Amino acid sequence: MSILVTGGAGYIGSHTCIELLNAGHEIVVLDNFLNSKPESLKRISEITGKNFKFYDVDLLDYSAIESVFLENGIVAVIHFAGLKAVGESVSMPLRYYNNNIVGTLNLCRVMEKYGVYNLVFSSSATVYGFQEQVPLSEDLPLQATNPYGRTKLMIEEILQDLYASNQNWSIALLRYFNPVGAHCSGQIGEDPNGIPNNLVPYITQVAVGTLPELKVFGGDYQTHDGTGVRDYIHVVDLAEGHLKALVNVMGNSGIKAYNLGTGIGYSVLDMIRAFEQVIGRPIPYRIVNRRPGDVSISFADASKANEELNWNANKGLDEMCRDSWRWQVNYPNGFEKEYEKISAVNQL
Ligand code: NAD
Ligand code: UD1
Repeated sequence: MSILVTGGAGYIGSHTCIELLNAGHEIVVLDNFLNSKPESLKRISEITGKNFKFYDVDLLDYSAIESVFLENGIVAVIHFAGLKAVGESVSMPLRYYNNNIVGTLNLCRVMEKYGVYNLVFSSSATVYGFQEQVPLSEDLPLQATNPYGRTKLMIEEILQDLYASNQNWSIALLRYFNPVGAHCSGQIGEDPNGIPNNLVPYITQVAVGTLPELKVFGGDYQTHDGTGVRDYIHVVDLAEGHLKALVNVMGNSGIKAYNLGTGIGYSVLDMIRAFEQVIGRPIPYRIVNRRPGDVSISFADASKANEELNWNANKGLDEMCRDSWRWQVNYPNGFEKEYEKISAVNQL
C-alpha cells in the first residue's frame, strides 16, 4: 500500500515526502529531474532515516508510468510534477501545455486503468487571476493570466470532468499561496535555476552576496506601504496540508478545492524587514516599476481547509525567514552545483 509522489524530488514534493515518511507512509517517488537534483532524494532518506523506491520516469512516457503501477501497490497519488515558471511559460507555451497537461492526462489514464482513484493535485492561487476582493475563497470565479496558470486551470477542469464521468474518483485540488521556507534541518530547500523569479530566494541570494540588490516591483499599490501583498506559507505547513488532504480523499469520493495559505498578507517591505531581523543586517533594495501581470494583494480565506481537512498553518513569518536563511547559508549554491562546477573543470 504505497503513495505515489510525482515530482517528489522538487521543492514542495521533497518536504512532503519527509512528512509522509515520518507519519509512517510507504512512498514511491517518480521524477525526471527536469527541475530538481537526485541529491534531494538522498537528503530525504538521511533526514528521515527511511528508504523508499524511486523511479526516474517522465510523465510524458505512458508505459513507464504503467510499470510503476504494475510493480507497486499504489493506493493514492500526490501529483506535484509540472513546470512552474510563469515567464518561461509565456515564451514556451507548448512546452508547458505538453508537460503539465499531457503528463497529467497520462497519469490519470494509468490511474483509471489500475483502479487508483485517490488524487491530491498541486494547483495554485494563480487560478484566481485578478480579483476585486480579498481574502480569496474557493468559490470565486476562476481565470488565468498566463500559460502556466492556464495549465493549472485546465487540469482542474479536466479533473472535474473525470469525476463527473466516474464517481469513484476522489480528488483534492490544493491551491497553494506563496510557499517559502525550508526544512528545519537546513538540508533541503528551494533550489531555483539561475536568477530567482520569486521574492524569498531573491532576498536570501542578495543577503548571502550572490546578487547585489533586490528590485522591489512597484511602490504605488493600494496597500499599507505601497508594495505588493502576498500570503507566504511555510513549506512544511504546506506539506502537512497534503497529509490531511490525503486522509480526506482516501475516506471519501468527490472533487474539492482547498486554499492552502495562512490568511495573512505581508508586503514586500514587510518581508525585507523580517529577513533583516533574522539576518542582522540591512538588505539592499530599490523600488522599481511594477512587474507586468502582478496583482496588488493576494491572501487566502483558508477556513475551508481548516473546517474540512482539519488543517491550519502554524509557522509564522519569523520561522519562514529563519528556515529559508539556514538553507541558503548552508548551501549557497543549492543542491550539487559545486559538484557540477568541479566536474566541468575536470573535463577541461
Ligand atoms: P519544483 O519544480 O521544485 O518540483 C516539480 C518537480 O516535478 C521537479 O522535481 C521536476 O523535476 C518534476 N517534473 C516536472 N515535469 C516532470 C515530468 N514530465 N515528469 C516527471 N517529473 C517532472 O516545483 P515545486 O515548487 O515543488 O512545485 C510543485 C508543484 O506545485 C508544481 O506543480 C507547481 O506548479 C505547484 N505550485 C508551486 C508553487 C510554488 O511557488 N513553488 C505555487 C503554486 C503551485
Ligand atoms: C508568482 C507567480 C505565481 C506563482 C507564485 C508562486 C508571477 C506573475 N506569479 O507569484 O503564478 O503561483 O509565484 O510560485 O510570477 N517581488 C519583488 N521583487 C522580486 C520578486 C518579487 O518585488 O524580485 C514582489 C512581487 O511583485 C510580489 C511579491 O514580491 O508582490 C511576491 O512575488 P513572487 O515571489 O514572484 O510571487 P507571486 O508574484 O505572488
